[in-house]
Amino acid sequence: MKRTHHCNELRPAHVGQTVTLSGWVHSRRDLGGVIFIDVRDREGRTQTVFDPSDLPKALFEQAAGLRSECVISVAGKVRQRPDGTINPKIATGEVEVLVQSLEVLNYADVLPFQVDDPEAAAKVNEELRLQYRYLDLRRPEMARNLRLRSKVAIATRAFMDEQGFLEVETPTLFKSTPEGAREFIVPCRTNPGLFYALPQSPQQFKQILMVAGVEKYFQLARCYRDEDLRADRQPEFTQIDIEMSFIERQDIYDVIEGLLKRVWKTALNVELPTSFKRITFQEALDRYGIDKPDTRFGMELADFTEEFRASTFKVFSGAIANGGVVKAINAKGLACVTQGQIEAMTETAKGFGAKGLAYIKVEGGEWKSPIVKFFSAAEKDALAKKLAMAEGDLILFAADQWLNACEILGKIRLYCADVLKAQGKLVVDPNRFDFLWVVDFPLLSFDKEMNRWYSSHHPFTAPVAEDIPLLKQDPKKVRGQHYDVVVNGVELGGGSIRIHQRDVQKTIFEDILAIPPDMVTARFGYMLEAFRYGAPPHGGIALGFDRMIAILCGTPSIRDVIAFPKTAKGTCLMTDSPGGVEPKQLRDLHLELKVGKKE
Ligand code: AMO
Ligand code: AMP
Repeated sequence: MKRTHHCNELRPAHVGQTVTLSGWVHSRRDLGGVIFIDVRDREGRTQTVFDPSDLPKALFEQAAGLRSECVISVAGKVRQRPDGTINPKIATGEVEVLVQSLEVLNYADVLPFQVDDPEAAAKVNEELRLQYRYLDLRRPEMARNLRLRSKVAIATRAFMDEQGFLEVETPTLFKSTPEGAREFIVPCRTNPGLFYALPQSPQQFKQILMVAGVEKYFQLARCYRDEDLRADRQPEFTQIDIEMSFIERQDIYDVIEGLLKRVWKTALNVELPTSFKRITFQEALDRYGIDKPDTRFGMELADFTEEFRASTFKVFSGAIANGGVVKAINAKGLACVTQGQIEAMTETAKGFGAKGLAYIKVEGGEWKSPIVKFFSAAEKDALAKKLAMAEGDLILFAADQWLNACEILGKIRLYCADVLKAQGKLVVDPNRFDFLWVVDFPLLSFDKEMNRWYSSHHPFTAPVAEDIPLLKQDPKKVRGQHYDVVVNGVELGGGSIRIHQRDVQKTIFEDILAIPPDMVTARFGYMLEAFRYGAPPHGGIALGFDRMIAILCGTPSIRDVIAFPKTAKGTCLMTDSPGGVEPKQLRDLHLELKVGKKE
């Protein structure tokens, strides 16, 4: 029995035709002696009808024994569904197939969970879904995600090709280079004691491709990072990785805006307005307390440093005297927070090293707070005015060094937004996409524990030209030519204009990042060497492909858009990886295990 149509194809125009469908038993209902089986394939589903008066007994009994997810082919005649039984929810809902023959291609055991009911599926615990991922992926919602991912990958390739980019594959057996995250390392049998590392990104290879004259490179690149995993982070993930020669920042913005426009149109039929807004790192922190602001709602941070400089409330004036700032947000409508929620927020603030989280609730026309008694009339006036305080508001304060104060309130702002959303007081349109370019990041950040500078993005990012003289005098003031593209509070991608002059790159490695020269040679010698032979000015970016698909699919977790993701512990529950190896394999690799061995 060869299939003639897929399960999302039949319409009233097919009535009277004899057809064959193949697929899985999505559901079976026995009604009034007649059996209804919805047959499902990749495209959709169609109702088939087994009527005992029309069928040999054996065939009918075979149908009666079919369980969910058995694999079958059915042949029969398409007919209009009787009035009152039309299902407007599915595309084939006006017709059904009156079965004449059935072939059972395979039986299915009792399932560990149902795949036919989206509500039930949403309650299945994720570990079970991951263990039986092949069943999970049969669920129409998951199949839709995979399909959308494929469509977007193909649209991306087509767009990049039209723009003159070459797709070049780069090695995934690379070597260890400190670019940020911890790496996965791979022992090398043929070189005892040496290791490959899986690349965190193709960063160095794509820069070398620019030296090689490729000019416009892209790749849907697999990257590996041994980081703490979260909803938006996987140990292996995919980037749309891009690099171009003879360009400035604006050229990257143009390519990415064009690509995202194409992707949004292809995936969602949405016309994205361009150009995207730009915001500096400084302004993003000042107003939203985060370098990837969700600008779909306000609740912006207000600054009260000047107002409280001479305050008698020492928590504030003391922080200011120490070079800090006082900032506040107004969570409108949240005066009703529970003490538990205030405590949770205070813990967040403390996680950043704050001593507390001062607050004011505006309730019953009064300011309820343990601290207002310390405020002068002028201070209260300033608060009421700048924060437009009204009945039902909750004001939260952070007094700390600028970056800390901003980041604390940035977290609290998102926490409050979640609470307000849950209470229905803040509505964010799920079809709204607020894209932003975040620019002018500091090139360097200071690691207090290690007492050294490190690259905010990566060590290949070029400083803003006019800031180069500051590199040695005042490193914290140097801005990098780094940009991030952010949507709805998610960092979708990041990149930079690179250093292409050998001496500048060497200065960054050796003088600024204080990497010993022999280590620079061992790790990056080949790059510095390549830069001797005509490296063009270049720059690039990488978009998190999984994150982009998750946004397009409207799911908070990238696990839902990756066919076979890892758990938060980095394991694959279906294949049970990572797994052990045989002693011989270890011997071949010149390795000896310490774990599991008695000392
Ligand atoms: P960066 O490290 O900012 O830049 O990564 C670029 C984008 O990749 C995505 N991403 C991840 N997605 C899923 N799981 C992860 N663990 C993960 N880590 C990162 C994010 C991020 O914005 N080589 C540079 C790019 C460049 O300079 O051109 C780089 O990798 O969406
Ligand atoms: P204290 O005088 O330490 O009892 O603090 C008074 C109030 O200010 C309490 O509600 C604290 O949570 C809060 N508080 C303490 N330190 C800070 C700070 N650095 N920023 C904001 N609020 C603070």
